Amino acid sequence: MSNDNSDKPDNAAGSDANDQSANEMWGGRFATSPDALMEAINASIGFDQRLWRQDIAGSRAHATMLGTQGIVSADDVTAILKGLDAIEARIETGDFKFSAALEDIHMNIEAHLKDLIGDAAGRLHTARSRNDQVATDFRLYVRDALEGLDAALLGFQHALLVKAESHAATVMPGFTHLQTAQPVTFGHHCLAYVEMASRDRGRFSDARKRLNESPLGAAALAGTSFPIDRDATAKSLGFDGPTRNSLDSVSARDFALETLSAAAICATHMSRLAEEIVIWASAPFSFISLSDAFSTGSSIMPQKRNPDAAELCRAKAGRIIGALSTLLVVMKGLPLAYSKDMQEDKEPVFDALESLSLVIAAMTGMVGDLVVNEDAMRDAAAGGFSTATDLADWLVRAGGLPFREAHHVTGSIVALAENKGCGLEGLSLEEMQSVDKRITKEVFSVLSVEASVASRTSFGGTAPTEVAKQVAWWQNQLS
Ligand code: ARG
Repeated sequence: MSNDNSDKPDNAAGSDANDQSANEMWGGRFATSPDALMEAINASIGFDQRLWRQDIAGSRAHATMLGTQGIVSADDVTAILKGLDAIEARIETGDFKFSAALEDIHMNIEAHLKDLIGDAAGRLHTARSRNDQVATDFRLYVRDALEGLDAALLGFQHALLVKAESHAATVMPGFTHLQTAQPVTFGHHCLAYVEMASRDRGRFSDARKRLNESPLGAAALAGTSFPIDRDATAKSLGFDGPTRNSLDSVSARDFALETLSAAAICATHMSRLAEEIVIWASAPFSFISLSDAFSTGSSIMPQKRNPDAAELCRAKAGRIIGALSTLLVVMKGLPLAYSKDMQEDKEPVFDALESLSLVIAAMTGMVGDLVVNEDAMRDAAAGGFSTATDLADWLVRAGGLPFREAHHVTGSIVALAENKGCGLEGLSLEEMQSVDKRITKEVFSVLSVEASVASRTSFGGTAPTEVAKQVAWWQNQLS
């Protein structure tokens, strides 16, 4: 996590290796405090303090349920809830001192609660363990992140739709192998990313569905002998219901893996568009210009405008894919149920999801701001004999040739044009007829790039009429 060093907890309280006092939270069996190294490797507060909102929400739900079930007295529950309110207010205002000696967010909050309300605080952890607590907090965090990503992707789709609508008829070269293949429209190209983003949203929504079960009440691993109501805590935290197996509840991290998998795929889509933006904005292409907001200058070459934001979006994909492998490798050898290895689940997830949301925001901004150079796109589309397929199709349609033969004839005509140093439209009818007599002057109606894209009216094709239809369909779908 890039900014973790900045939120390093206060190391002072009880963290000195010479401090002989037993640990406040689990000191019953231990005579001395962990030494500084142990604390350094063990503490997660530097990063899991991000979970404070979720931790407090989980504690509120748990405390309320303990009260309703008569496990903890109403007075103690009231005191606990008031204390949690006070802690929330302190963390919000930056008034809360996180301590590495208290290891993680769960123990930091509980210790602080004890300072505020005294012994009643100790009743909050009845019928609960940090194992089900962290599993709950983490699911809530990932759920929030998934909702944020969905909203961000919707904004990205809208930005693309605006461009697709105004450039439904803007011709550009379509590539395969990054070689000019056939003319397409820029609007059509934008819509390709709308489709990808839609599938990304589908994957995130699937992940959210499977994630949305509450592990709270699984306790350490085996459940609890207290008469808890897991349906109640699940409901109050917005889960669809409780998880059905206590061992699985504290061991499962596939909700994070699934989210990271979807995030890695989404980041890959963002990276591909970023790569295209880098190419399009390069001087030899000059298909688009990026706004100042998303470009930087060079400190030595005054003429340069670098697409840094796009390059960084491309690179962040590496980081997000890396997070997925990190967590897969952390989890792959772990026996049931909880192992402390699982504390290493959080940083890759925090980093990946925060990076992805930054990437989507930046890509949305770049798409919204980019200015299309229609002439450069059209000129490039007309190069590379991009309407050769249209010629072959015409030979099939008008001349009745089998496609294979038409392909061969077209190849010879392309060679002719190449020798002459002109495009297909630059050849005379006589020159074409020297290759095949069946060619008539009607052939010229299919050789322009505009005619080419206009003819591609098959469903999902690149014709401006078809692109306009798809834009309208998406606008309706996303409204
Ligand atoms: N900080 C821990 C984590 O993130 C909380 C759970 C600790 N559980 C335990 N049995 N030591 O995984």
